[in-house]
Amino acid sequence: MKRVFIILLSVLTLSATARERKNIDFDWRFVLADTTEFANLDYDDSHWRLLDLPHDWAIEGDFMASNPSGAGGGALPGGVGWYRKHFYLSLADVTDDVLYKLEFDGVYMNSTVYVNGEKVGFRPYGYSSFEYDISPYLKTGDNVIAVRVDNSDQPNSRWYSGCGIYRHVWMTKTRLVHVAHWGTYVTTQADGNMTVEVTLNSAEKKGTYTIRNTVMDKQGKAVASKTAQVSLARTDKTVTSLKVNRPQLWSIENPYLYTVKTEVLNGKEVIDEVTTTTGFRSFRFDAKEGFSLNGKRMKLNGVCEHHDLGCLGSAFHEDAMHRKLVILREMGVNAIRCSHNPPAPELLDMCDSMGFVVMDESFDMWRRKKTQNDYARFFDEWHERDLSDLILRDRNHPSIIMWSIGNEVLEQWSSAEADTLTLEQANLILNAGHDASTLAKDGELSVNSLLTQHLAEIVKRYDTTRPITSGCNEPSPNNHLFKSGAIDIIGFNYHHEWVKDVPKNFPGKPFIFSESVSALQTRDNYWMPSDSIYKAPQEWWLPYTHPSYMCSAYDNMHASWSSTHEQTWDVVKHNDFVGGQFIWTGFDYIGEPTPYSFPARSSYFGIIDLAGFPKDVYYMYQSEWTDKDVLHLFPHWNHIPGDTIDMWCYYNHADEVELFINGRSQGIRKKTPTTNPSSLTTEYHVAWRVVYEPGEVKVVARKDGKQVGEQMIRTAGAPDHIRLTTDRTSLLADGRSLAFVTVEVVDKDGNRCPLAENQIVFDVTGAGKIAGVDNGCQTSMERFKDNRRKAFFGKCLVVLQHERTKTGDITLRARAADLKDGIITIKVSL
Ligand code: GAL
Repeated sequence: MKRVFIILLSVLTLSATARERKNIDFDWRFVLADTTEFANLDYDDSHWRLLDLPHDWAIEGDFMASNPSGAGGGALPGGVGWYRKHFYLSLADVTDDVLYKLEFDGVYMNSTVYVNGEKVGFRPYGYSSFEYDISPYLKTGDNVIAVRVDNSDQPNSRWYSGCGIYRHVWMTKTRLVHVAHWGTYVTTQADGNMTVEVTLNSAEKKGTYTIRNTVMDKQGKAVASKTAQVSLARTDKTVTSLKVNRPQLWSIENPYLYTVKTEVLNGKEVIDEVTTTTGFRSFRFDAKEGFSLNGKRMKLNGVCEHHDLGCLGSAFHEDAMHRKLVILREMGVNAIRCSHNPPAPELLDMCDSMGFVVMDESFDMWRRKKTQNDYARFFDEWHERDLSDLILRDRNHPSIIMWSIGNEVLEQWSSAEADTLTLEQANLILNAGHDASTLAKDGELSVNSLLTQHLAEIVKRYDTTRPITSGCNEPSPNNHLFKSGAIDIIGFNYHHEWVKDVPKNFPGKPFIFSESVSALQTRDNYWMPSDSIYKAPQEWWLPYTHPSYMCSAYDNMHASWSSTHEQTWDVVKHNDFVGGQFIWTGFDYIGEPTPYSFPARSSYFGIIDLAGFPKDVYYMYQSEWTDKDVLHLFPHWNHIPGDTIDMWCYYNHADEVELFINGRSQGIRKKTPTTNPSSLTTEYHVAWRVVYEPGEVKVVARKDGKQVGEQMIRTAGAPDHIRLTTDRTSLLADGRSLAFVTVEVVDKDGNRCPLAENQIVFDVTGAGKIAGVDNGCQTSMERFKDNRRKAFFGKCLVVLQHERTKTGDITLRARAADLKDGIITIKVSL
């Protein structure tokens, strides 16, 4: 007990001169229980579980129909949990001239933070980042942070939220005069002009300080610098203009980043220093020409993403997010929509450095709720703070090209409540002292339009360099959000048939699909005939059932409000004014298992399954969106002899493709300009209807009469052994790094057995542990945190994480009855 206490008493060695920011994720105590005593300084928490953040307790639980989150929320548990963190401060640490700031990137939800038994603050919205000045509560010796996290009022989300301190936590030590939280605002122009606004924070409104801003290129070379004076008696802000000569532009292909070092000097002494990442780029949304970046027209080939990381739950892991983005980039994705809430800040850093543009979104609801206990209950009191914080936190990211103030908010439509509001009530709701009558246009008072204007005004208060949009599923110009005039980019969710009317209905306004497609697929599961469309459900209010609880991985299944992938892409591709789309979704996510309910517990919408394995349509996009040579034939070649099978092929860079079964031609196919789903061959894929016989099926691609590609699929024999492949062969010894190991059941010749469902057991030795297991099956009731998983259509995934307390390389052995083991070793490097 004494030993553990010593481990926990981590010493905060922050230097006394300028700012020091330290990650404090490691060694927190956790319990899933609730009493007010847990806040107390002297509460003995030594029997609590010791863990590292980020942490999500819900992902450790079991799927149950009775969990109040419901299938929509992932059918995983909620509840109230507490975290405690001890740290030690010496006499020299706690002085009058320093401050300590405690920063949470995200806590889901209703977090109350205590320091040494005293309440520091409360934040309801689980996606906001926030900081507290905890200096007044600190003392020399042992200090304790206690965080109560309350996710017991459920359902409060239409998707899986996770529970806990699921993002990073930071402690920052500053001098009394310092740059305020999110206190720099860097704006750039493609010609190299830049302004840097710096806001200082100081309790004492006196003294004059020098602000020195230095712009550095990728190599760290200073390319511009300027100083300014700020006299706190008059202002806490400086605005400096700088010029970088011939800047390298930030783009998708070359996301060149600069950094701005902001120093605060008292005389000659540097008393604070922060760096801000920035980039030079210009972009434009045009009503006729769509989107352009740095003067070059391009489509936003985007995907919507929720925040969960599959079997890791909502606990944020850089490596998992990075893997997602790499898989998306390979597909040709260039844009991400953070649906429907502020993302982890590191996602935006990655988009900056990897070259994705971003739609940053605030809310899934405003005042009218979508689930019983959702954020609508906090909206009136908290929206201004949460929206402001989002813009302040994120406005420096070059990747962000638009703000979304909401997704499918019910305020798009009138309601009895809105119609009966008086001006006074409207003003009360707007709650920021606005006079509703001055906001109303043409004497027309729609409180929903006013609310839209109010939210847009909050955004513009902090950032005027980006347009505002909102995901709207009411495509008519009578939508209160559109009528407000505050929406810069008309964003439709779905309604691809309405797009032709956009120029008429919204003259002069740029247009995008803020959300599109919502096709439904289970990886490697095929419903034939493939030229029949399965609409599931037929209408949104009707139930849909199928005993398999699966969907079809041909692009022939979608929800009633949506389309096949090909149908929407065709509208985007062939209409110049459409700036692009954000497909629902890139990856499957936990929760919202439309068209089913429990035991389905994760989504079918992804182009990539929950384990990160692409579904076939991934290659349709790759063939359209990238320069890579694509030739993708499916499905697998293990059926019942005599079965009629539709073989599809996505290809590019070829004039024609020819299919052979056991060497016999099944005919030549060429893409034809149609997207009619009842045509076997379209503008985006070709197909053959063939009779199955075991052996091999092969497709050959030709250009100008010459063969340019070939893909062969063989009938797999009996399952023989387990093949393991990892996305990385070495891990950093940092207690965080992850390796994603693909586990396949293969026959003696190495062909994946596409129907294998073997239960596979994993043993890990060395400095690693299993962070999660998955197989992409939307109805699996197996735990995500376990040492076993069934293969699903022949494969599954195990995620290994470096473990701080152990040494050596990591060896994973995978075992299953009647199969030879698979073994893989991952090096651990310091
Ligand atoms: C949209 C909504 C998304 C998701 C999707 C499923 O209406 O914005 O969050 O629910 O439908 O098709």
